[in-house]
Amino acid sequence: MKKVSTKNFKKTLSKFSTGITVVCVKNNNSIYGKTVNSFNSLSLNPPMVLFSLGNYSSSIKKFLRTKFLSINILSSKQKKISENFASTTPNLANIKFIEGRNKTAIIPNCIANLECKLIDKIKKGDHIIFICKILELKSNDKLKPLVYFNSKYF
Ligand SMILES: Cc1cc2nc3c(=O)[nH]c(=O)nc-3n(C[C@H](O)[C@H](O)[C@H](O)COP(=O)(O)O)c2cc1C
Repeated sequence: MKKVSTKNFKKTLSKFSTGITVVCVKNNNSIYGKTVNSFNSLSLNPPMVLFSLGNYSSSIKKFLRTKFLSINILSSKQKKISENFASTTPNLANIKFIEGRNKTAIIPNCIANLECKLIDKIKKGDHIIFICKILELKSNDKLKPLVYFNSKYF
């Protein structure tokens, strides 16, 4: 075993394969989205999920202030969407967002979408854990997931 450095921590965690989500919030009719793979299920009853965001993120205040948000689980055909929302200034022009029941911005053609209410935020280290109750959801059995492993898409 080795001592922990940021470099070998990142490398070791990259061996854990994940799906990819884009978490979107809407604030005064502007949409903010971020590529996130720290997403996971938390509770069945009530149905809750969690994800974490770096407290240094350029748009962290928009996420901290929101009441509702969408979590969009990307399909294998949506690598470009993942790359787009990993940038500080994503291009929203070509995305025809669907409006959720709680006015969230939902990305079309995903393998699954969740509309959530933000119920708690927990600061830990340099990240904030967002705990969300699922209000509505949908999934598509015909699509394959976008997978992230070893810092690469599969
Ligand atoms: C595959 C992938 C997964 C990511 N997952 C997270 C995550 O779970 N939490 C997070 O804060 N940033 C995550 N990021 C980084 C953000 O998407 C974004 O690049 C970062 O916050 C920098 O942009 P910003 O300074 O505008 O916030 C991920 C990036 C990629 C490419």
